[in-house]
Amino acid sequence: MKIFIDSANVQQIEEVNGWGILDGVTTNPTLIAKEQTDFGTLVRQICTIVNGPISAEAISMKAGDIVVEARELASIHKNIVVKIPVTEEGLRATKTLSKEGVSINTTLVFSPAQALLACKAGARYISPFVGRLDDVGSDGMDVVAQILDILDNYQFDAEVIVASVRHPIHVVEAARMGAHIATVPYEVLKKMFKHPLTDLGIEKFLQDWQKVARH
Ligand code: E4P
Repeated sequence: MKIFIDSANVQQIEEVNGWGILDGVTTNPTLIAKEQTDFGTLVRQICTIVNGPISAEAISMKAGDIVVEARELASIHKNIVVKIPVTEEGLRATKTLSKEGVSINTTLVFSPAQALLACKAGARYISPFVGRLDDVGSDGMDVVAQILDILDNYQFDAEVIVASVRHPIHVVEAARMGAHIATVPYEVLKKMFKHPLTDLGIEKFLQDWQKVARH
């Protein structure tokens, strides 16, 4: 399973990249806005840190404009993946761009039906937002399971990025289901390796080590 960080913060990305477990990065307009820095410069910098897919979102709404914007984004670096929301215009643009070899991450996916259309348009990645589904009383991970079934039935090439992750259990469930990727916020990544019994165990081992004779 691949783990991406869902962040545009360079310090966070550098730190997690240093753990040796990071496969890619996803950003979105909200995450970029938090950094209060030039978009192009920031995306270029992220591409120098992580050698894997880096998602940057197109904000145009008309297919023709999305195509132009996506080509510009893709020209920044070979690892750029363009995020396009799953709208009618977005699907048109995805079809054109995927034929040109631009990698598309279909974003704001909330249903298996949307995911199926994105696959047929040639999306490389499908991003169901599980946390936002849970927030409105739906079962986000059940939507992921249904999307995985569809991909499996027809051997679509697309990979599922479990997005809008809120806690480590989302990541564990994603892994148990065989989802290809989870994109995980920094705070959740930190929680993934924390366990009070690990901390207590280390403390005890260090205390006991003081009693060991060493020459
Ligand atoms: C992923 O691609 C999205 O940027 C992200 O996971 C959205 O998460 P949120 O619902 O916490 O904003």
